Amino acid sequence: MSSYIIEGGKKLQGETYVSGSKNASLPIMAASVLNKGITKLYNVPDIHDTQMMIEILKKLGCKVKKNQNKIIIDSSIITEFKIPESLMRQMRSSVIFAGAILGRYRKVTFSYPGGCDIGSRPIDLHLKGFEKLGVTINKNFGKIICETEEIKPTEINLDFPSVGATENIMLSSVLAKGTTTIINAAMEPEIIDLQNFLNRMGAKIKGAGSNIIKIEGVEKLKDVSYNVMPDRIEAGTLLCAAAITGGEILLKKVNINHIAPLLEKLTESECKIGIKENEIHLKAPKRLKAMDIRTMPYPGFPTDMQAIIASCLCVASGTSVIVENIFENRYKYLGELQKMGAKVNIEGKTAIIKGTKKMYGTKVNSTDLRGGASLVLAGLAAKGTTNVNNIEYILRGYEKLEEKLNSLGAEIYMI
Ligand code: UD1
Repeated sequence: MSSYIIEGGKKLQGETYVSGSKNASLPIMAASVLNKGITKLYNVPDIHDTQMMIEILKKLGCKVKKNQNKIIIDSSIITEFKIPESLMRQMRSSVIFAGAILGRYRKVTFSYPGGCDIGSRPIDLHLKGFEKLGVTINKNFGKIICETEEIKPTEINLDFPSVGATENIMLSSVLAKGTTTIINAAMEPEIIDLQNFLNRMGAKIKGAGSNIIKIEGVEKLKDVSYNVMPDRIEAGTLLCAAAITGGEILLKKVNINHIAPLLEKLTESECKIGIKENEIHLKAPKRLKAMDIRTMPYPGFPTDMQAIIASCLCVASGTSVIVENIFENRYKYLGELQKMGAKVNIEGKTAIIKGTKKMYGTKVNSTDLRGGASLVLAGLAAKGTTNVNNIEYILRGYEKLEEKLNSLGAEIYMI
């Protein structure tokens, strides 16, 4: 078990950059399975979750080479149609392989995925989508066995714009004979990145970024090189790290459009924000102002930023209200922030945060990826030493977090 030790109270100042997007890299890595050939990916974050995807690719028979942020995947020969249960348990995104393997071979066996405990996280919408495409699904002692003679393109209306279900349906339809339409599709930027990647590979997909996506099946795909988009949640985390410490940073390699809802909130909280192409300059006030947050599917305020911004609100002046509309169990980390002096009340999906002038360093435990990152931010602002345990969750999704924070003047190290 690893921990971060943070000496709090240092204003973050300087410049840093955003790494490649975790949530875009994972489905793109799975999508590489669709092509009987070579995929070269650049700007893939070097984190635990992308390493797990590499492990799954290798188990399927792919040859994978990695050099820092560059990954070369040779999917010419796939020898396995089962996604290993042990790896499925470790990360939820492993479920995205189901659509890709199904798309190429029309059969796949997998199990219910694990991942961060932030709610029940069912996969019914993924499975309903497969069924609508003519796939027969049998469940046997936790195993999900999917098979079909042919993927039958159709119109699929999602009950909720699920990111994962949208991605899985896209992947399973790329090589089908005919056009699949997803209605009420997720509109997240990572879906656009997946569409761009697949089209570069020879697929014919349009509409990503809107709520209707059309996938016209193609007979075969071709080798591809692709540069993954920047991580919008990491960008938000670094901006909030500067904001919570009253600091000033220049953040490079950002896609400004992707983080518009956060920038709006940081401005409301009295941060001064300057934008130049793909760079953001943020100067925080002495003390942030309270604000209300409502998480929504994109382009609303992202649920993945909820815990991060909550840390800022814990030390802001005034009372803030957060409503979490996406996941039902995403407030576990607030109990840990309370140990540091945060004044929080939770009622169902609403959290009321009464800003306090100071939080105090103590021992806290990461409860999930973003909740863990929120504890790091609280530690940066707190008086004294904070010991964040179970940082394995944080390492799943942030590349070089302590290196980047230390370059801005923080004092954080791993033990
Ligand atoms: C993705 C992101 C995650 C982000 C989330 C919402 C990745 C790797 N992860 O997760 O960081 O927090 O989008 O923006 O990209 N649901 C169902 N049935 C399903 C699928 C989902 O009820 O079959 C529900 C979920 O329980 C949740 C909501 O839909 O309440 C959103 O889930 P979804 O959009 O699917 O999130 P993920 O793809 O898992």
